[in-house]
Amino acid sequence: MNSNTNLHPNVKTLLFSENEIKERVQQIGREITKDYQGSKELVLIGILKGSFMFMSDLVRAIDLPDTLVTLDFMSISSYGASTTSSGVVKINMDLKEAIEGKDVIVVEDIVDSGLTLKHLLELLQSRKPKSLATSVLLRKKEGLKVEVPVKYIGFDIPMVFIIGYGLDFAERYRELPYLGELKEECYKH
Ligand code: XMP
Ligand code: MG
Repeated sequence: MNSNTNLHPNVKTLLFSENEIKERVQQIGREITKDYQGSKELVLIGILKGSFMFMSDLVRAIDLPDTLVTLDFMSISSYGASTTSSGVVKINMDLKEAIEGKDVIVVEDIVDSGLTLKHLLELLQSRKPKSLATSVLLRKKEGLKVEVPVKYIGFDIPMVFIIGYGLDFAERYRELPYLGELKEECYKH
């Protein structure tokens, strides 16, 4: 989509079109392909639900035929139906496999304060992976409250509430193929 014509009525502005996202994700896939040459085992950990679309496109952009590439998923929650971070992270579903001795990339949709990802990285580090890196689609730079390492970043964005391409507000809008700013009247009452 290259214009605003077919945007969902609750989207204020288009941030990144389907094509822009696709191009960026392909670039990240190429970087990962280059950086993990020689890796024996690479696990991509998708953080549900927000990263499902990013994860799906990213894994198809990675080309490592000599590496055992596997996927695993974790479900954590921090926000509920609100739009500000509570700083409390709850693990709703843990990984299915151990990550000890493996190269790990955490695939996350968005970093705001950084609290969620920081907490998650501490937890995963304690399981002794060979390496631990992060690939984050969106980062709200002005929102950062803690330092958190992001190796692969999709886009830096302003402090607005984003929906689409897997990201939700109260479980809605995940299906939109683009990233857009949610109209304020949809979440401020
Ligand atoms: P923190 O503040 O812990 O927050 O870095 C990260 C988590 O907050 C959610 N989040 C958003 N979700 N649109 C969303 O759909 C947004 O603009 C947004 N900002 C933060 C998200 O779940 C992420 O994992
Ligand atoms: Mg969410």
